[in-house]
Amino acid sequence: MAAGLLLAAAQLLQLAGSFAISLRAVDNITVTIKQGSSVPPINYCKICTSQTCTYELRITAGVKENFAFLCETPEKYLVMEIQKNIDCTSGPCPFGDVHLQPSELPRLNRTFFWDVKANKKVGLELKFSTPWLRQIGPTDTCPDLITYSISSCIDTTTVSIGTFCRNGSVSRVKVQGGVVMALKLPWNSELTTSGFNIANRSSIKRLCVIESTFKGETSATLMSANYPLGFPEDELMTWQFVVPSDLRASVIFRNYSLSNCERKEERVEYYLPGLFSSPEVFKLSDKQPANIAGNFNLSLQGCDYDDQNPGILSLLFQIVVQHPQNEENATYLIDLVKERDISITIQPKSRHSGHPLQFEPECLICKDPRTCERNVTLTSGTIYRIFFLCYDLENLRITAEKTIACWDLKRCQKKIYHLTVPRAISQLPVRLDKFIWKLLAPEEINVEIMSPSLKLQQHIQEQRCNTSYSYGIVSTTKGKELNLGIFCPGGSIEKIQMRDNITISLKTFGRGFLNDSLNQDLKMSFVPFIKEECIFTVIPDPKAQVYLQTPNWLEGLPPYVSVSWNITVPSKQVARLAFLKERMDIACETGRAYVNIQEQKPKAEETVRREDELLPEPLHMYHHFWVNISNCKPVNKKQLSLQFWVTFVPQKRDVTVIIAVVVGVAGALSIIGIVICCTRKRKKESQNPEVGTYNVNINTQMPGRRGLFKKRRQENDSHVYAVIDDAMVYGDLLKESNGSVNPEVDVYRPFDGPVGDTPPTPPPISFKRDTQISNSEELPFGPERDSEPYTFAHHKPEETRGNGDTSVNSTGDVGMSFLESKEQEGLVE
Ligand SMILES: *[C@@H]1O[C@H](CO)[C@@H](O)[C@H](O)[C@H]1NC(C)=O
Ligand SMILES: *[C@@H]1O[C@H](CO)[C@@H](O)[C@H](O)[C@H]1NC(C)=O
Ligand SMILES: *[C@@H]1O[C@H](CO)[C@@H](O)[C@H](O)[C@H]1NC(C)=O
Ligand SMILES: *[C@@H]1O[C@H](CO)[C@@H](O)[C@H](O)[C@H]1NC(C)=O
Ligand SMILES: *[C@@H]1O[C@H](CO)[C@@H](O)[C@H](O)[C@H]1NC(C)=O
Ligand SMILES: *[C@@H]1O[C@H](CO)[C@@H](O)[C@H](O)[C@H]1NC(C)=O
Ligand SMILES: *[C@@H]1O[C@H](CO)[C@@H](O)[C@H](O)[C@H]1NC(C)=O
Ligand SMILES: *[C@@H]1O[C@H](CO)[C@@H](O)[C@H](O)[C@H]1NC(C)=O
Ligand SMILES: *[C@@H]1O[C@H](CO)[C@@H](O)[C@H](O)[C@H]1NC(C)=O
Ligand SMILES: *[C@@H]1O[C@H](CO)[C@@H](O)[C@H](O)[C@H]1NC(C)=O
Ligand SMILES: *[C@@H]1O[C@H](CO)[C@@H](O)[C@H](O)[C@H]1NC(C)=O
Ligand SMILES: *[C@@H]1O[C@H](CO)[C@@H](O)[C@H](O)[C@H]1NC(C)=O
Repeated sequence: MAAGLLLAAAQLLQLAGSFAISLRAVDNITVTIKQGSSVPPINYCKICTSQTCTYELRITAGVKENFAFLCETPEKYLVMEIQKNIDCTSGPCPFGDVHLQPSELPRLNRTFFWDVKANKKVGLELKFSTPWLRQIGPTDTCPDLITYSISSCIDTTTVSIGTFCRNGSVSRVKVQGGVVMALKLPWNSELTTSGFNIANRSSIKRLCVIESTFKGETSATLMSANYPLGFPEDELMTWQFVVPSDLRASVIFRNYSLSNCERKEERVEYYLPGLFSSPEVFKLSDKQPANIAGNFNLSLQGCDYDDQNPGILSLLFQIVVQHPQNEENATYLIDLVKERDISITIQPKSRHSGHPLQFEPECLICKDPRTCERNVTLTSGTIYRIFFLCYDLENLRITAEKTIACWDLKRCQKKIYHLTVPRAISQLPVRLDKFIWKLLAPEEINVEIMSPSLKLQQHIQEQRCNTSYSYGIVSTTKGKELNLGIFCPGGSIEKIQMRDNITISLKTFGRGFLNDSLNQDLKMSFVPFIKEECIFTVIPDPKAQVYLQTPNWLEGLPPYVSVSWNITVPSKQVARLAFLKERMDIACETGRAYVNIQEQKPKAEETVRREDELLPEPLHMYHHFWVNISNCKPVNKKQLSLQFWVTFVPQKRDVTVIIAVVVGVAGALSIIGIVICCTRKRKKESQNPEVGTYNVNINTQMPGRRGLFKKRRQENDSHVYAVIDDAMVYGDLLKESNGSVNPEVDVYRPFDGPVGDTPPTPPPISFKRDTQISNSEELPFGPERDSEPYTFAHHKPEETRGNGDTSVNSTGDVGMSFLESKEQEGLVE
């Protein structure tokens, strides 16, 4: 069997696939062919010489060997190591170009090792031919798989100087007292030269020197010896930089860690151009020099480590070489002397890391010609002069934060604080990304923000902000956030009153803010405690379509939170209030969720919907009104989120026409009669099933609200408004059946006298309240009955959506018809 194999091997050696390696004794080279370390052991490929077949073949200096592989693709299984020992300690060294010897090697992955032994005091220089080398992390791979690894020895310990690929800025590496250079080539590499030579130098008095030569705009990443492991104890390593005179270099420490020093201190030292005599010493945590014109060097000095807990000293830094970037020589004065509690940060725009080899110009912000940083923070009370070393200022962004606090209402109540971006910031050529105001106060002090001239629009799906900036408003209590939403100028919200600590973040979009910053209009003041989580004061323009939504839109209102909107109806207008969905879409575990809507006039009916009822059909409001939405504790995670919108149409009435039509329409009249009757007697009589929509008992079922109203309303108001109510009922019904344009009548003038201005209060959440509310459920609100008036009012029955609708507003549902007719005329929506 063995004889057969040998015979086969002997035959193989006759074929073209055989190799001959002849090693001269003087070269002191050893070649080893062995199985690749990444190859599973079952995948073997034997190497046969004329004597034997083995798994590993070692050819030593002065030996000539013929061999062949017992497989067709040996590169898949075998690797080769070519070790050349160069001993300079005993005799003269063969310095000069290093050759890839021997030639004519089989095509296997191979690693050439040059192991140069030298006297401890002798410096050895590895000089690379262009395109030089680029340092990589020890586990990174090079695109062409050609990798140089340089290591040295301190006593018996091997120290990794670095791992490199071809094509970079590293032009020379100097080491002291011996070096091992490993050049790893893939099996198919056509490389014929090692790409470096070795020269003899005097002592460098340190572990190593790495020289980088820059030719044009570029950046390089360099690492301390042994990175990411610890730099050897008490060692010194230097990087030399050759920078063309028309370029500037900046050093940026990307990653470093510190050891625990027992003696001395770890530090970096720079010899910068113009300061040859003495080095500049920095801590690793310091900002490093930038905008350096000319050659310089940087040294890392380790310390004596604490033996018990040495820690790791490591440094990875970037050197960026680029053209001087402040051609216009502009210096900006930022005067923050008069500002208080403000902090401004200028920093690079966060960018997705591009191709690692691609040069990305850096932007630096300088406080003096050499004190430049990638980011700076400016604080109030100081004047700064800054300039930018930046090719494209679009790569920088400003963020700022200002704190306004009030701990004693007496001292701040009367004050109006302007929430505007200071000119010092908006004048800079750098885009303002975010300006954050933090409004801090104890629980009993609340915040009111106002935008009297621009007014705010809530950014919602149906009505997106398209302005150059917006405000995000968030209130925070005990770590819990309530996100009021995004607002931008140009809407109808004039005021927002809020509880808790507030964060307002101005965010800019595009360049338009530069202009728009000139007329910012947001103010705030501290106000006494309010009961609601927040109150929006909405003063729309008659042409406006106002979309509003509950805070915390995505997650929903937190449990038990109540929000109110105080909505002004412009004079001679009728507001149409509609919800964007039919239901609240929640189920309560504890308490009840409510939508309450009420006009701001004495004796006004309140439209109340509970979470298990349908939301109201579009309502028509003739007076300023309140919308209140309050949440319960829902069964599941789904919380309350509601949207509604308000539009306006002009009021137009004519009594004579109304009466004519009333006379003409007998059926209508009879129902109106009932309406009037019920409206007048509403508190005394139980509901007539036929006019269920006029049920007012919900109100009487809510002692809380009644009590409130009693306090606020003047005695004699009641009957006056009863009359107005009735007249309105007339008008609306008649309007519906007529649809013609009528001159207006006094009684329809929007009420602008003193009215109860307390927001509708959500029923307090208690079991007692619950039972009271369920009483109202027992009242006749059947869908059939409910739809009755609609059948009359709506000529298009398919529009009826009255199931479960329990409107209690004496004007609302009937007034609807008036609007509908307007809609048909195309004036609404
Ligand atoms: C060859 O290498 C060995 C091992 O390092 C060394 O002892 C020997 O002196 C070297 N011979 C020559 C000629 O450099
Ligand atoms: C040869 O090198 C390539 C690339 O590094 C590697 O994928 C392959 O496994 C190596 N072959 C052997 C036998 O180690
Ligand atoms: C060297 O790298 C640069 C990119 O950094 C590339 O454009 C160039 O082609 C490379 N040159 C060689 C010889 O690989
Ligand atoms: C190498 O440097 C040492 C010390 O500087 C010197 O003695 C020796 O002659 C040099 N050898 C060569 C070949 O330059
Ligand atoms: C920086 O250091 C951290 C922690 O040592 C490490 O996780 C990270 O990979 C390092 N980054 C680079 C670019 O080396
Ligand atoms: C560093 O630069 C200074 C000034 O050019 C020079 O005197 C010094 O020898 C340099 N050090 C190294 C290690 O290159
Ligand atoms: C900026 O300053 C440099 C050096 O002082 C000068 O050469 C250059 O002309 C100046 N540029 C402008 C636009 O003033
Ligand atoms: C600059 O940014 C870094 C990281 O984002 C941060 O650690 C450092 O504090 C910043 N420096 C200044 C001056 O803001
Ligand atoms: C607001 O924040 C301040 C400071 O963080 C805190 O003392 C205060 O209690 C907070 N107020 C509220 C209402 O959470
Ligand atoms: C913003 O939107 C409004 C209406 O939605 C429109 O009138 C206005 O022209 C838009 N402005 C810009 C800058 O697009
Ligand atoms: C800023 O306003 C000026 C004059 O009002 C105008 O010419 C310029 O186009 C505006 N710029 C932007 C970005 O809107
Ligand atoms: C509601 O808004 C009106 C109109 O702006 C205002 O007069 C009234 O005081 C507001 N009510 C409350 C309680 O804020």
